[in-house]
Amino acid sequence: METKVISVDKVVDKNESYAQAVTILQEGGVVAFPTETVYGLGAIATDEQAVQRLFEAKGRPSDNPLIVHIGTEEEVTLYAKEIPEQAHTLMEAFWPGPLTLVFDRVPGVIAPNVTPGVSTIGLRIPCHPVALKLLRTLKAPLAAPSANQSGKPSPTRAAHVMKDLEGLIPLVLDGGLTGLGLESTVLDMTTEPPTILRPGGVTEEQLMEVIGAVQTYSTQTVAVDEAPKSPGVKYTHYAPEAPLFVVEPNKEYIEEAIESLKKDDHQVAVIGPEELVISNANWYFNLGSREDKNAMAANLYNALRQCNETTASIILAVETDLGGVGAAFMNRLERAADGNKLD
Ligand code: TXA
Ligand code: MG
Repeated sequence: METKVISVDKVVDKNESYAQAVTILQEGGVVAFPTETVYGLGAIATDEQAVQRLFEAKGRPSDNPLIVHIGTEEEVTLYAKEIPEQAHTLMEAFWPGPLTLVFDRVPGVIAPNVTPGVSTIGLRIPCHPVALKLLRTLKAPLAAPSANQSGKPSPTRAAHVMKDLEGLIPLVLDGGLTGLGLESTVLDMTTEPPTILRPGGVTEEQLMEVIGAVQTYSTQTVAVDEAPKSPGVKYTHYAPEAPLFVVEPNKEYIEEAIESLKKDDHQVAVIGPEELVISNANWYFNLGSREDKNAMAANLYNALRQCNETTASIILAVETDLGGVGAAFMNRLERAADGNKLD
């Protein structure tokens, strides 16, 4: 299959570009499109076969539910039942935006393979002009995971989508760089208080300001044989090709570690803030100032992918504190590291 890329930033006849995307989707195909978090790979959420194609293109395990993207708040009642008052407050405050709300699902509307193993549905209105225009032209809900091969870092530019999915999907709408660079926060509204299943673009602090208490879901608190609440949490994610280790932001310690790794014939890539000057790394991927966590978050996935362009045999990634979007940043780093920490 040939993959076409249309630059929706620059083309004059934008409506024509959207018309092509809409036709592909209505015929049961999949289309990659930008959101404010990362690129998504969309299929019409009521079309079981289209959703099946999406799982196949990504190589995604079929037991991991998909977020359903909608264009207007009114649509929530079509797919979700029992919408608590706090959810209305959150939609008012953060939609369109990087917050996915999980509700009990109205049965029989969304294709069953969108929500395998759960009786709930995750909904969000993305805050990106291309995503919104696509959804509002299509007038249908889009099931859309991040548009990467399963397990790889999420795409923050169209080139990342092409790297992973070229030849497997018919169309990428290229809207340039995504803004946030990390995925939406997934918040389970079926618990009291609501539970953060995945930290993301809307921070815990922001949620608490609007609705008070929230709790954070931790795999450690789940018995091994219990089905995870958010099945996505059990899979390796965001992983570059070389093994990745999280390290503390200590220059001397990192430089000593690199010295001994080099003695074992390793080539070392380091991902970290611009303030940390590591003189002996083979590659240093600068995420921006440690004072600017938003920049660090926006650059993380690209840095992980850039490591794959090198011959690094090991990657050291410098940790940040957990304030603000730092919680989402560290969640992704720890997942990419699969628990590896250098200490
Ligand atoms: O920012 C984002 O959320 C991006 C853009 C494209 O919208 N999407 C994204 O989708 O990150 P994906 O499929 O890569 O991650 C969705 C996460 C998974 O961890 C999944 O398990 C969880 O959300 N999830 C989806 N529906 C759920 C549900 N009903 N209950 C619990 N977890 C759910
Ligand atoms: Mg993903």
